[in-house]
Amino acid sequence: MRTDTPQTIYRKDYTPPSYWVDTVEMGFDLDPEATHVATRMTLRRNPDSPNRNLVLVGESLRLEQLRMNGKDLSKRQYALGRGTLEIFNPPDNVTLEIETVTHPAMNTSLMGLYVSNGNFFTQCEAEGFRKITYFPDRPDVMAKYTVMLRADKEKYPVLLSNGNLIEQGDIGDGRHYAVWEDPFKKPSYLFALVAGKLVCQEETYTLKSGREVLLQVWVEDGNLDKTQHAMDSLKNSIRWDEERFGLELDLDRFMIVAVSDFNMGAMENKGLNIFNTKFVLANPRIATDTDYAGIESVVGHEYFHNWTGNRVTCRDWFQLSLKEGLTVFRDQEFSADLIGTDSGRAVKRIEDVRVLRQAQFPEDAGPMAHPVRPDSYVEINNFYTVTIYEKGAEVVRMYQTLLGRDGFRKGMDLYFERHDGQAVECDDFRAAMADANGRDLKQFELWYSQAGTPRLKVDTEYDADAQTYAVTLTQSCPPTPGQAEKQPFHIPVAIGLLDARGKDMPLRLEGEQQDEAPATMVLELTEATQTFRFKQVTERPVPSVLRGFSAPVVLDIAYTDDELAFLMANDSDAFNRWEAGQRLAMRRMLALTGAVQNNQALSDAELEEGTLNDAFRAALNDEALDPAFRELALTLPSETVVAEQMDVIDPHAIHAVRRFLRRSLASSLRGDWMVAYQANRTPGTYSPDAIAAGKRALKNLALSYIVENDDADAHHLAQTQYDNANNMTDRIAALTALANSSAPGRADALNSFYEEFEQEALVVDKWFALQAMSRTTDVAAVRALMKHPAFTLKNPNRARSLIFSFCNGNPSQFHAVDGSGYQFWAEQVIALNAINPQVAARLARTLDRWRKYAPALQEKMHAALKKVAATKELSKDVLEVITKSISN
Ligand code: TRP
Ligand code: ZN
Repeated sequence: MRTDTPQTIYRKDYTPPSYWVDTVEMGFDLDPEATHVATRMTLRRNPDSPNRNLVLVGESLRLEQLRMNGKDLSKRQYALGRGTLEIFNPPDNVTLEIETVTHPAMNTSLMGLYVSNGNFFTQCEAEGFRKITYFPDRPDVMAKYTVMLRADKEKYPVLLSNGNLIEQGDIGDGRHYAVWEDPFKKPSYLFALVAGKLVCQEETYTLKSGREVLLQVWVEDGNLDKTQHAMDSLKNSIRWDEERFGLELDLDRFMIVAVSDFNMGAMENKGLNIFNTKFVLANPRIATDTDYAGIESVVGHEYFHNWTGNRVTCRDWFQLSLKEGLTVFRDQEFSADLIGTDSGRAVKRIEDVRVLRQAQFPEDAGPMAHPVRPDSYVEINNFYTVTIYEKGAEVVRMYQTLLGRDGFRKGMDLYFERHDGQAVECDDFRAAMADANGRDLKQFELWYSQAGTPRLKVDTEYDADAQTYAVTLTQSCPPTPGQAEKQPFHIPVAIGLLDARGKDMPLRLEGEQQDEAPATMVLELTEATQTFRFKQVTERPVPSVLRGFSAPVVLDIAYTDDELAFLMANDSDAFNRWEAGQRLAMRRMLALTGAVQNNQALSDAELEEGTLNDAFRAALNDEALDPAFRELALTLPSETVVAEQMDVIDPHAIHAVRRFLRRSLASSLRGDWMVAYQANRTPGTYSPDAIAAGKRALKNLALSYIVENDDADAHHLAQTQYDNANNMTDRIAALTALANSSAPGRADALNSFYEEFEQEALVVDKWFALQAMSRTTDVAAVRALMKHPAFTLKNPNRARSLIFSFCNGNPSQFHAVDGSGYQFWAEQVIALNAINPQVAARLARTLDRWRKYAPALQEKMHAALKKVAATKELSKDVLEVITKSISN
């Protein structure tokens, strides 16, 4: 908790550590009330450091003992400051012995050592190790760890830490011990231990090289029927990294542990990945297709960190995207490769871009906007953002787009050749990519240093006589906090030209030597504006620009409705087919929003004859398209995405319009929806594969449209699906449809669902979330749900399921004109702040776009922000978010 004004940390202030740590030996006497931690470490002076003193950091610790080179330190030899332990002028080689005490059962922050359902877990990234012992807790200090765990044998039969188990046994008094040794040097943020009553599914797995490794998935008793998918995902991950990047698992044993109290998705601790249960536990009864896909990608993500993050780590936390952007890119590619088909890859790409637009574009346009490699922070936990992760992944993807798959692989190989075992910077990754390919990527650095989403304007000119087609690309980037002026980026723009039949024209660029004329070409925009002239263009084309979303920019291009419908029907690039439909829908939604704001009535007739209706009907009925693709194409842009397109956000008008459009499409295409519903049933045994999941997605989208009609037939359809479903995907889709309707069975279904799944925490989360996001749920209803015995703010998943789902996922209710949603938000931020600052700060982000709203709402949001700001004992996590929201 804050006692003074929090300090801003600057990237430019980086200095190397004054001492390196070579070895760390730790002994834990695990006790929920008071755990004693004895640490012995050997350190060595760093000749490159200007500092003589050795500074260790510690937080919420009791220091019991401090010895240097075998002797107790006298009070004159060190100073215990606020969060620091400074030892004055130590010798060049030091052995430190430190004994500290922590209180795991009282630790609700879920950082450091804590207790969840009676078991011990740690979370050390980014700065949690300092809650376990005094240490130079920074990622460029890498050491070899040996860890002894001691605990009551009956209460804590399983004792795990990083690396290899080298010894275990009893120590009397009903206690036992285990010794773990991690053969690899690692930064402290990758340390982990787990102790408690857990069971595992295990398997030996043979690597390509023939070496055998032990794989384990650890869960609480009773959950062994939910580990198979995580295990399969792990094996797929191991194989994929061998095949795609030539990277082998470097340990003999690899463990995944599931914990129900967890701040984020999962954590890549060396050899001992710790996961939120949400990203491990699955069987058809409790998990949806989305859950299955999430597990696959998060298991992959954490596994891939073993090379991109652990073997090569970050010099400092400003370089976070070095590991996160790269590892997200790798997990995205992994999921895409596992689907295997071109259309499957496109579906995955669309889903990833949707996340970027829904969450990262707003961040980049708001008060917390920061570059992929930030220049400063107050609390590093606030910088585990969609910019670092998702935009960072887009930046990595652009290397591959510019260098080709093979060129990218060469760059990766060189990166590991140069930096294995090191803590490095984003610049080192860029240098490896450039050097391995003989390319100058100097300008590309701007993607790391400049915040904001670039705009890319496209102007075209066809010269029928000369048969040339000129494409002029113009870039700009809006100002962001602390960055008024921007330099032009190096932007790869993938482009194709469609002829009147909808076929790709061969591309020949004037002034270029080309062996062949490809259908898609990557133009490299490096200036503020540049013209690219295609030759031998025999007719006026329709351009398909930014194919596959080749750069994270906003594309400004003037299409007619007919051209968009044409692209949606014909583009060989599936991403741009989807994109064309979204543009068409967005255009309509913005026009209708304007109409609502002018008090005009929305008329069905106008829509039914519109291009949008025809284009959607065509896509829905196009059997040549994957169901998964059709589901994406027929989903209207979300309320958040529409909001970002408005100068002044009107959440109520947006909500009314989206609903109106959905109802119009529901009634005008009713027969088509019913056909799609019937055609995409998946009878028989449940399988989460992409084809079956795609069918269910389209069928359930059809159901949601059909239920927009809110009549007896629709209710019956939803109720029947709810009663007969053999998997959670169909179950929850039907329940969601019922919950958003006036069906007579609505309340019964909600009650029976709860009773059926009361014992499954992850399903209870879904139950809260679907109610929180239902359009009839207002603030009062959320407050009532908070009184439900199953609700608690202490479990992050549960808090997210109700509070976050309402504040972020139910805009029309949250933005109630009386400001009651904002008051509720402020109360919950304040309550969470006292329990778990990291989670509280995430919720605090909800209002950071407040300046974009109409004055009446703005005023009430500002009042809520000020209420939080005025709270005593705000964590620096929450304080940073609120301060930046108010001042930027
Ligand atoms: N490094 C983790 C990942 O990307 C995420 C992470 C960072 C995390 N800090 C955390 C997880 C704190 C839990 C708690 O996979
Ligand atoms: Zn990660």
